[in-house]
Amino acid sequence: MIELHRIDSVGLRVTDLAQATERWSAQFGLRVAERGDTAARLACDDEPYSLELTAGAPAGLAHVAYELAAGCTLKQARAHLEQFGAPVSDDGEGGLETRDADGNEIRLIAHREPASLLVPHARPAVNPAPGHPRKLGHVNFLTGNLDAQVRFYTEALGMRTTDWLGDGGVWFHVNSDHHVMALIAKGAPHFHHLAFDVVDIGQMRAALDHLGRHGRWLGWGPARHGVGGNIAAYVRIVEEECFVELYCDMEQLQAGHQPRRWPDDRFSSNTWGPLPPRSYFRFDQAAIDSERESLEMLGVPLNEEIR
Ligand SMILES: [Fe+2]
Repeated sequence: MIELHRIDSVGLRVTDLAQATERWSAQFGLRVAERGDTAARLACDDEPYSLELTAGAPAGLAHVAYELAAGCTLKQARAHLEQFGAPVSDDGEGGLETRDADGNEIRLIAHREPASLLVPHARPAVNPAPGHPRKLGHVNFLTGNLDAQVRFYTEALGMRTTDWLGDGGVWFHVNSDHHVMALIAKGAPHFHHLAFDVVDIGQMRAALDHLGRHGRWLGWGPARHGVGGNIAAYVRIVEEECFVELYCDMEQLQAGHQPRRWPDDRFSSNTWGPLPPRSYFRFDQAAIDSERESLEMLGVPLNEEIR
């Protein structure tokens, strides 16, 4: 058997560790929990860490780590993954390492009790920065291999399907949050975003003002997703080839949730209005240049990506 409890952390490879640590901390209000010669670990609040930066190339996703549920041991998880046929090895830190159908590295760590069971705002402050994100909430991947990826995340990792967007998008949950992971069929695999939970749109406003003053821009949003219900804003991260989503007000699922299939239309994506520019699904230089100057909205179409 296998059962996940929550997303634990995202690992990113960075070309300049000192610069990246300072940048992620200063721009997103993350606390530097551990700093070494080859890696740094950053936290939103009082969790051990939720973002691990490792010196290396190429810059981008290194892994996603999930924590097992209290009733599921690493030994049980290993046996389940082996029975499924997924590659499994030790991650070198007491957990397990496997790969999804697109080859993305997935780590599983043993269940651990949180430092406090109280709601976040009733716990002693650990991060001195006001207005920091509350937690890492989910990740999102583009894929050209949707069927195999859905099979891996549901059958190998035991995630449960929350919603489908037509035939091209799938959202998965492991607890009451609408999603901990999502897949969008876009022809080729790429890590799309990691998402930090902010308390409300007021905190999002303060964070986006701060990010704008650091030269950041939004690839899309703020939008109100139909699927998931969350208010979301997507900050382009050129350096590590991804987006950071800041979100609030995500749908909370009830026991016995049954997957829904939403029509693939504008309203399902954004009840407030516009769909994203095509650059939102791309990480090449032409897309970044177009998005930085909002060229698609000025009537300049984005050319086909040259791979
Ligand atoms: Fe998201």
